[in-house]
Amino acid sequence: MDKIKRIGVLTSGGDCAGLNAVIRAVVYRAILAYGWEVYGIVDGTEGLTLRPLRYKKLSIADFFAPFARLGGTMLGTINKGNPFAYKMPDGSVKDLTEDFGKGAKELGLDALIVIGGDGSMRIVGKLCRGAGIRMIGIPKTIDKDTPLTEHSIGFATALDVCTEALDRLQTTAASHHRVMILEVMGRDAGHLALHTAIAGGAEICLIPEIPYTYEGIIAKLRSRREQGSDHTLMVVAEGVKTLEGRNVTLGESAPEENVRYGGIGHYLSEKINSEPDNFNSRITVLGHVQRGGIPSATDRLIAAGFGVHAVDIMAEGKNERMVVWRDGKVADVSMDEVASIGTARVDPNCDMIQTARGLGMYVGEI
Ligand code: F6P
Repeated sequence: MDKIKRIGVLTSGGDCAGLNAVIRAVVYRAILAYGWEVYGIVDGTEGLTLRPLRYKKLSIADFFAPFARLGGTMLGTINKGNPFAYKMPDGSVKDLTEDFGKGAKELGLDALIVIGGDGSMRIVGKLCRGAGIRMIGIPKTIDKDTPLTEHSIGFATALDVCTEALDRLQTTAASHHRVMILEVMGRDAGHLALHTAIAGGAEICLIPEIPYTYEGIIAKLRSRREQGSDHTLMVVAEGVKTLEGRNVTLGESAPEENVRYGGIGHYLSEKINSEPDNFNSRITVLGHVQRGGIPSATDRLIAAGFGVHAVDIMAEGKNERMVVWRDGKVADVSMDEVASIGTARVDPNCDMIQTARGLGMYVGEI
């Protein structure tokens, strides 16, 4: 193995809180412990695949500013486009693997640290393998759907935001005797919704992994009244399907883009309001508020642990590994193992579901 002198770091996929904190940890460890140079690649893989190359040489001084405390990513990111069938400005379609490899070579990168979700890990992992570049992944996602890790950067902050939203909705629910519905992100995984519902004391939580019935929702609302509670909090994950079994989506998405979920909360709220019971429901869709803002202390701790470990295993010569949090410790697993599992969704029999049910929450029916 050649000695490492210069590495690249990039963020890929949707942004979230804690990305700048992990970039800082990578830069500090790489420079202070190993004396490497670190190049930040701008806008995910596009910084290397498109021309001119886009990158920034990063130094300790870049982080004297309050960067690590800020949300977003100082490097920029992308969450659309397929580099293996990239739509060029002239309409032609091109596999950019070679351009990626040439870009990395031109910058003299010996290895790359990729901060991304499960989709980004797969895509950038394939690009790196195709171009013969060593790679270490660091998981980030508010969806918590990257397998084999207990924590991913961004989830803890998003959970705090969603829980605070529920705290604020609770007062209107109580004052106006309403059913307040909170629609949260998560794509096809219900982790964020489930954690929010438990932390924020909701009585109903719908997630994509567990089918629900409309009768089940209405029965819960009625039983709340019978128990003397005239208001209810309900959390719905954006990926929950309608009673007719379709996802509710926003606008038209180009074929190379992810379909954008949104609107299931409105759909359910309208239905609930049409009941003769006068439930009086209102809907809040949190949207990208969940991804922004100052990272929580937990996300900063995870970012620090992940960043340092990623650089250390790179120095040991490891390749195609993803850092993970397991049993309270930072460790690493093979990218192949991550890819073979794919998206980690909520297990309908997991402890969190048992806890929710234990609190009397309606979480659907299995
Ligand atoms: O994967 C993160 C995520 O925030 C999902 O929860 C959500 O469905 C999606 O990204 C939204 O993507 P965009 O920022 O492109 O609207």
